[in-house]
Amino acid sequence: MILFDFGFDVEKNLECELGEAEIKRFPDGEIYVRILSEIKDKECAVVKSVQKNEDFVELLLILGALKDNGAKSVNLVVPYLMYMRQDKIFKPGESLSARTVLRVLSSFSAQISLINSHVFRSYGKFDFHGVRVNNIDAFREIAQYYKKLGNPKVIAPDKGACDAAKTCASVLGCDFDFIPKKRISDTEVVMEYKDLNVLDKDVLLVDDIISTGTSIIEAIRMIEEQNPKSISVGCVHGIFTDREKFDLIKKNSTEIVSTNTFKSDVSKVDVSCLIAENLV
Ligand code: R5P
Repeated sequence: MILFDFGFDVEKNLECELGEAEIKRFPDGEIYVRILSEIKDKECAVVKSVQKNEDFVELLLILGALKDNGAKSVNLVVPYLMYMRQDKIFKPGESLSARTVLRVLSSFSAQISLINSHVFRSYGKFDFHGVRVNNIDAFREIAQYYKKLGNPKVIAPDKGACDAAKTCASVLGCDFDFIPKKRISDTEVVMEYKDLNVLDKDVLLVDDIISTGTSIIEAIRMIEEQNPKSISVGCVHGIFTDREKFDLIKKNSTEIVSTNTFKSDVSKVDVSCLIAENLV
């Protein structure tokens, strides 16, 4: 297999040949891609996150070049794939972004793996509107990072993150709970008060994505009132679109970490091993 690895160092966990590509920008911003390795009739793999719109274009050009140069197959791993949150039609006329993006990728690759994609609520292989996708869970890695907590209790900031909390709690050998949350708008949530039994606990607050940080800030507020010993935060995809809210989370927690699916200054939990396991 020839591996085209864009920023994950998966090769340190896998015996494979590293593929080489030349990627540059034209003066007007257009992207240029050239595959330098000999890939005709060879099995290839591509590992690349899509964090911003132009990453998507770059990925399409890479996949297109592999196809046009005769790759036998392409195993695609997109650790963070944006557009997966619009997974339903909420109002008539809306674009079902997750389906469109996955359909486009599936025209280049029959094997697509994502990490904790918001489209799915469980893990393994799924059919999503005719596209076969493998959803990989990285919450065990987050929990392993927090094995250092002395008296842990895992809290999910909404019901949707309950499975994540359960996974982390099983690794840490502790209880978990969730806070009932209602989303009002992209930047507003309301949390219903709940007694979380976190007195003197080292709370680990987990969510799949931290986007603006609104959900985590509100959850920290409620947990703090209940006198825990400490509050740590773990997420898979740390997007942190709002710097002020990110700083507030840092100020009001002992530690915050994410995996390196989405690069930031707290993306300390490495998922390269997980990716390698899914490429063999
Ligand atoms: C929502 O269902 C997700 O699991 C996250 O809770 C959400 O994306 C977090 O967004 P924000 O950080 O903007 O509250």
